[in-house]
Amino acid sequence: MSKLTKPSDAPAGPVLEVKDLRITFPTQQGPLKAVDGLSFELDAGKSLGIVGESGSGKSATSLALLGLHRRSRAKITGEIVVTGTDMQSASDEQVRQMRGSQIAMVFQDALSALNPYYTVGDQVAEAYRSHVQCSKKEAWAKAVEALDHVRIPDAARRAKAYPHQFSGGMRQRSVIAMGIVCQPRVLVADEPTTALDVTVQAQILDLLEDLRRETGMALILVTHDLGVAAGSTDEILVMQKGKEVERGPVGDVLRRPVHPYTQALLASVPRLAGFAVGEGDGPAGGHQGRHDRQGRRARPGHQPAPDLP
Ligand SMILES: Nc1ncnc2c1ncn2[C@@H]1O[C@H](COP(=O)(O)OP(=O)(O)O)[C@@H](O)[C@H]1O
Ligand SMILES: [Mg+2]
Repeated sequence: MSKLTKPSDAPAGPVLEVKDLRITFPTQQGPLKAVDGLSFELDAGKSLGIVGESGSGKSATSLALLGLHRRSRAKITGEIVVTGTDMQSASDEQVRQMRGSQIAMVFQDALSALNPYYTVGDQVAEAYRSHVQCSKKEAWAKAVEALDHVRIPDAARRAKAYPHQFSGGMRQRSVIAMGIVCQPRVLVADEPTTALDVTVQAQILDLLEDLRRETGMALILVTHDLGVAAGSTDEILVMQKGKEVERGPVGDVLRRPVHPYTQALLASVPRLAGFAVGEGDGPAGGHQGRHDRQGRRARPGHQPAPDLP
């Protein structure tokens, strides 16, 4: 059993507080408001789906949470407080320390997040060593543990493989292992399944949900697909043109979407459309506790993920 378990010293309450976040990019056509007054909080161990069409400001928001716009030409105002540290006023060194150990990110494209010339184990070990002073051997052991934790079968052996020797799903698991190896309090996954086929997508979503439950970390799942967020998160925040248009518990948003934009998003997901407005036993009900025989949660439109080979 993995040792990457729930940190006992974890205080309850918000691990992330965002207040009136505004991100503006200078463009040839003038300033572009990518994020325009976004505020939300995330409690320890909870999950939030940030949903919106392409260009609505989801990735700009995600990057800002990790301080990744620093030194860029983007203008950022507002407050981003991660486990008590104000990311805006923190020093570069503080932010570097925060990344990985307090807040980590999983990107959409696992292939470009991994270096083709190093083994998967080395890359996870390196992510660990960038935050914890330890020997290479200890870091390797941590890497194997993290790869095991993301359900890579025979992790001790597979850690010696190169990214091209892994399937798309296994690569995404490896990138998630890099994200969680330092036990962050918040994991931001930006379209983590968009590049994967539907079956593998469901496996990765199940994995993220399991990791959240096992480690107590909070999860932000960023997706253009309301169906993905619907099956995987406690709360949904719908973004349009850099602003929140709707936010609430997943069941409320799916059953009674208030904003026309949310209604349109819902209608665009065929597997959810039948559950929309007024239905009492939709996917939201399923989310609260419908499990299959193996104890996996039912997800609208997804078959329960088959076990890994
Ligand atoms: N570095 C940048 N320079 C200029 N404009 C950008 C930059 N990054 C994102 N944008 C613009 O900001 C808006 C929000 O983008 P993004 O956050 O990537 O959207 P999403 O992730 O929701 O698809 C878009 O209009 C996009 O073109
Ligand atoms: Mg994006």
